[in-house]
Amino acid sequence: MSEQQNVYPVRDDIAANAWADEKTYAAMYQRSVDDPEGFWAEHAKRLDWMKVPNKIKNTSFDRNNVDIRWFEDGELNVAVNCIDRHLEKRGEQTAIIWEGDDPNDAKHISYRELYEHTNQLANALKELGVSKGDTVTLYMPMIPEAAMAMLACARIGAVHSVVFGGFSPDAVAQRVIGANSTLVITADESVRGGKQVPLKDNVDAALTRDGTDVCKNVLVVKRTGGDIDWKEGRDLWFADLVDKQSTECEPEAVGAEDPLFILYTSGSTGAPKGLKHTTGGYLTYTAMTHQYVFDYQDGEVFWCTADVGWVTGHSYIVYGPLANGATTLMFEGVPSYPSHGRIGDIVDKHNVNILYTAPTAVRALMAHGDNVMDSSKRDSLRLLGSVGEPINPEAWEWFYRVIGNGKCPIVDTWWQTETGGIMISPLPGATPLKPGSATKPFFGVQPALVDNEGNLLEGATEGNLVILDSWPGQARSIWDDHDRFVQTYFSTYDNMYFTGDGCRRDEDGYYWITGRVDDVLNVSGHRMGTAEIESSLVAHDAVAEAAVVGYPHDIKGQGIYIYVTLNDGIDPTDELKKELTKWVRKDIGPIASPDVIQWAPGLPKTRSGKIMRRILRKIAANECDGLGDTSTLADPSVVDELIEQRVNQ
Ligand code: PRX
Repeated sequence: MSEQQNVYPVRDDIAANAWADEKTYAAMYQRSVDDPEGFWAEHAKRLDWMKVPNKIKNTSFDRNNVDIRWFEDGELNVAVNCIDRHLEKRGEQTAIIWEGDDPNDAKHISYRELYEHTNQLANALKELGVSKGDTVTLYMPMIPEAAMAMLACARIGAVHSVVFGGFSPDAVAQRVIGANSTLVITADESVRGGKQVPLKDNVDAALTRDGTDVCKNVLVVKRTGGDIDWKEGRDLWFADLVDKQSTECEPEAVGAEDPLFILYTSGSTGAPKGLKHTTGGYLTYTAMTHQYVFDYQDGEVFWCTADVGWVTGHSYIVYGPLANGATTLMFEGVPSYPSHGRIGDIVDKHNVNILYTAPTAVRALMAHGDNVMDSSKRDSLRLLGSVGEPINPEAWEWFYRVIGNGKCPIVDTWWQTETGGIMISPLPGATPLKPGSATKPFFGVQPALVDNEGNLLEGATEGNLVILDSWPGQARSIWDDHDRFVQTYFSTYDNMYFTGDGCRRDEDGYYWITGRVDDVLNVSGHRMGTAEIESSLVAHDAVAEAAVVGYPHDIKGQGIYIYVTLNDGIDPTDELKKELTKWVRKDIGPIASPDVIQWAPGLPKTRSGKIMRRILRKIAANECDGLGDTSTLADPSVVDELIEQRVNQ
């Protein structure tokens, strides 16, 4: 049983200096659930408000009236909170350390420089006609301009929608249309692992799609100087427009409940959803979690290895750290280039104190053996963090022992795009660690486990993870589709936010996330809907039907396993498998690359025509002996055929 695993007690030296020790955590947590209004009124004071809020919490999870508002009569500006207010004390302190893909490329950007560049960009946005409430789509490499673009939008009250640079032109088009963006900010190319990714070409392709003519301008950062096409009147070089602007830009007063950003994520059905995050609650929550979960101390270098295209990058590269006046490191490249020791090399080069990464990265390094980190010492590290998927205890122990030299606590942080910030996690000075457990809830978070009927389960048990009351960082809606928001998160169980995750709670009240209970895959910490991949496949002429499931993968956590039924008369060749792989990569993006394609003469369906994914998951995992009851299938012989095919392929 996992409960018999190692427990790592809180280190005395960390507890002595931490923002919260065990007692403080217990007292603050209790207050946060007993008196959320008082608690959050007090902690919202960590921000500079242009109008201090009096109404603190006004939230309802009732499916007939899902309405979430925090600090609703307050006004503030996020860029002011992340930059201006630090200038007096930290003008010359580094705000962003940028480490390029090439180990010879690095830059330090002080808070003052960040202020000036962000203001220039904000003025440029205004010149392009962007104003408060407008949306801007960002499709950018991991370069400082990405953070500046987010902050420049925030400064003028515009709403950003960042699209991960690994997504396809179609994904960019969908998001430009979905958010009605008049402007796309991109770069000529991005560079990862020594290879160029043609971002501008992808934007050009995206903007040929029907409905994208809302987009009037494309602002292009010159990153590589690579060859690109140019559309006069629409395309503008970033430097030409931005460098000539004033370095002062009056910040907008933004309502606490005005949107800060839209971020698309996958669900179990339909196209990706654009979650709407707002201003006051989000910033309060990300700043506070960044301080307490990472026990961030003044002057430390904080490195979150995520991409700004994901929520982790939004909350813990940009907003949380900068709101706290931290030094945040942004890395353009990949952990394996030019060598597998790169992460350690960067830690030494920039004296990183806190390293926040993903289990998939840890497992990929672990596969190269203990010596993989030999090129670095990593003495500056004080704390490690993990996010994105469950971390298996073996990877946890390796992370602790090899990367952290056996001296850095690991905070395993469970949260979601929807939650805005970290929800369940140890606090380094307060929580004994159990490898593989995200441990205890953050302040104000009330997790619970329910059975499939929504009955609350007590004590040590396993069930569906729900959250019983609102917290300030939560998404408020799906952009332009509140009904879908209600349907997805608040209609499964009455008066609860349903996370989509399964979870176990042990006798110490520790939470152990077991993974998604819906049709969402988590591949290398990237979230994908099986339905999205299926609908891409069935759009191919050769494909009659497709079913996608996840299967256990040593490095990625989950791999993508696809069952394909071909149209009559189509030959099931290896060539076709390659073509389908390319098709999905082109349609969705390289992150959706199939790991296995299995030809399926038929798919296991109930008599009402529903595909029984449980069976497909078992076959994919090669657990063909434990298929359970197949008697409700319309044609049980399909299963034998699939098992046979699996063996023979
Ligand atoms: O299944 C959980 C898993 O990732 C999902 C959220 O994915 P996304 O919205 O892309 O956000 C990822 C980064 C916040 C969750 O529903 N997940 C995330 N963190 C953990 C995790 N599963 C287990 N342990 C974690 N620490």
